[in-house]
Amino acid sequence: MPSERTEVQVRRGAESDLGALTDIYNHYVRETPITFDTAVFTPEERRPWLLSHPEDGPYRLMVATDTEPTGTSQRVLGYATSSPFRAKPAYATSVEVTVYLAPDAGGRGIGTLLYKALFEALAGEDLHRAYAGIAQPNEASTRLHERFGFRYVGTYREVGRKFGRYWDVAWYEKDL
Ligand SMILES: CC(C)(COP(=O)(O)OP(=O)(O)OC[C@H]1O[C@@H](n2cnc3c(N)ncnc32)[C@H](O)[C@@H]1OP(=O)(O)O)[C@@H](O)C(=O)NCCC(=O)NCCS
Repeated sequence: MPSERTEVQVRRGAESDLGALTDIYNHYVRETPITFDTAVFTPEERRPWLLSHPEDGPYRLMVATDTEPTGTSQRVLGYATSSPFRAKPAYATSVEVTVYLAPDAGGRGIGTLLYKALFEALAGEDLHRAYAGIAQPNEASTRLHERFGFRYVGTYREVGRKFGRYWDVAWYEKDL
């Protein structure tokens, strides 16, 4: 079938992914309260974010792709990151993680593949805790994080305002 695609691969992110990753993120910036960014990014504005996730160390970027049947082009389906939790040095053993899929790529296990690869990549790092802040409600994200052993910590009530209303963020924590 022409629409058939090869199985999903997960690899480290690269600068050549910048356009596709920016498009995915901008969808959630524009359409949803899932991220509290409110203005879309150009790829150039997003480059520092990409470069702050190098190939090794605690701050990673994993990318999921599939390939056209002809094998000529890869499509980026989503990504997961680990990033500094807070800047002060004693927080260095904690990371904040997140995961975003292309809008039509949900519900197929790709989020699970990305987090599996991310936490495997982090296994050798000097890290102790991972945190995830989930703007409410978001059942898919809550279930994904619980599947990976995240425990509910508490909720910041009405901590952000977007689309003219306030949103709660529930925080989840995982031992690394
Ligand atoms: C959250 C997200 C990454 C999950 O990825 P996914 O590939 O859809 O998830 P998976 O197929 O690996 O399934 C993981 C769990 O989520 C559940 N799930 C997936 N899509 C769901 C949906 N639309 N509604 C409810 N649960 C859903 C699955 O049933 C599974 O739960 P289980 O472990 O209890 O069986 C994806 O939906 C997404 O990109 N959402 C938009 C961006 C976002 O919310 N990012 C997280 C910010 S905190």
